[in-house]
Amino acid sequence: MEYLLGIDVGTSSAKAVLMDASGKPVHAVAPEYAFSTPKPNWAESDPSDWWEATVSAIRSVLEVVSADAIAGVGLTGQMHGLVLLDRDGSVLRPCIMWNDQRTAAECGALTRAIGAERVLQLTGNPLLPGFTAPKVVWVRENEPEVYARIARILLPKDYVRYRLSGAYCTDVSDASGMALLDVANRTWSEEMLAGAEIPLAWLPELTESPVASARVSEEGARATGLLAGTPIAAGGGDQAAQAVGCGIVREGVISATLGTSGVIFAHSDSYRVEPEGRLHAFCHAVPGKWHLMGVMLSAAGSYQWYRNTLGGGAGYPELDAEAARAPAGAEGLFFLPYLSGERMPHPDPDARGAFIGLSLRHGREHMTRAVLEGVCYGMRDGLELMRALGLRSKEIIASGGGARSPLWRQMLADTFETCVVTVNATEGAAYGAAVLAGVAAGVYDSVEEACATTVRTTGDTDPGADAAVYRTLYPHYRALYPALRDVFREIAGTVESSV
Ligand code: XUL
Repeated sequence: MEYLLGIDVGTSSAKAVLMDASGKPVHAVAPEYAFSTPKPNWAESDPSDWWEATVSAIRSVLEVVSADAIAGVGLTGQMHGLVLLDRDGSVLRPCIMWNDQRTAAECGALTRAIGAERVLQLTGNPLLPGFTAPKVVWVRENEPEVYARIARILLPKDYVRYRLSGAYCTDVSDASGMALLDVANRTWSEEMLAGAEIPLAWLPELTESPVASARVSEEGARATGLLAGTPIAAGGGDQAAQAVGCGIVREGVISATLGTSGVIFAHSDSYRVEPEGRLHAFCHAVPGKWHLMGVMLSAAGSYQWYRNTLGGGAGYPELDAEAARAPAGAEGLFFLPYLSGERMPHPDPDARGAFIGLSLRHGREHMTRAVLEGVCYGMRDGLELMRALGLRSKEIIASGGGARSPLWRQMLADTFETCVVTVNATEGAAYGAAVLAGVAAGVYDSVEEACATTVRTTGDTDPGADAAVYRTLYPHYRALYPALRDVFREIAGTVESSV
């Protein structure tokens, strides 16, 4: 029996998933680590923690199968993080992570230097503070002694590959989040590199995702117990790998993930850019294809906040049952889910959550329902942006913790006016990385064939009678943010000067 191993170098754990060639996960383990916030809005992680957790995860897998049964390893991980190495391959400073917001000034300066439209055209996105390039500029300006010693730049999963194999490689989907890739042509952008003053020699070798771009070295084998020579797939950024795991590998398929954040994700056969950059346009982990992605910052995170603050000790099933007692539309009560500011469709760090329309008739069941509905409207915003680009889908694949709720799935189907389906993939991005490893190792012929073998539909929810209610109310929801935007900004200014 052949097995495939996927590893997700995540924000707080390194998750390893072992699957057999039929796509059945047989073992999963996720040793955890912490990241630090040395200053407000900063987030840093120690790459040696990722490596230690990865070694421990692989050793746990090798208690279940022997190393010679593993046909290939695939890597995925948190995107956008900056790992800096010196000439000897030693880490120069902690990784500056995807959720670190320190580079607003660098993004502004770089955007002015290259031109906002040109940046969008080349990289498929505006320059966002989480992306990698502005972090390098920050290091140049703030840590010149570190900057002077840089020989290599790597993304988080690619640092783990370096420790496993000695190779400096990445893949086009993860590289898309660096703001250094010419996303249309799937190659490093000389123009972006010149603008950010980053030498090409610092960057890793670039391949498509299901390519065996490295092999486990003798040293990697000694550390982990894997066999030297085991192929390592280039892999993908966590969202692209998660999409592969759910079968989002052809045009006409869109997914909605209700995790802490909410992600609406579409495969695209061609390179398309949302004119205002409200959706990320990235290379997909499917060779020669792209994906568009909208990220809401608080989706299931809004429900978690609500449970923790106003839920009165109730768990999610009780809150769901309560919400089901209120009518669709919560009798005119709306919730804006911008609890951590927002990224899509309103890139606005000052946006805030709100209940709007409260009356004496409203009880907690209405508030609970409004929270669930507000998140669905926010996801519909993303779907509308995709529809405007000509991306259509007969069904939406729902995943993430929130999609376990039948009530929330029904609301999604009603808000989208599209059938919502669930699939067998429950192990997230690491599972998609194992699928990519299967293609790299020759177990499957292509990512599409791999998905046809591994992904199965487990349920579907058709839009029901409430769809008509949400069709009427959605325009009211859409009107709320523009009405409040200036007030949010003024409040943020007042709060900043008073804290
Ligand atoms: C993608 C993104 C997150 C991180 C961490 O753009 O910011 O998915 O990769 O999971």
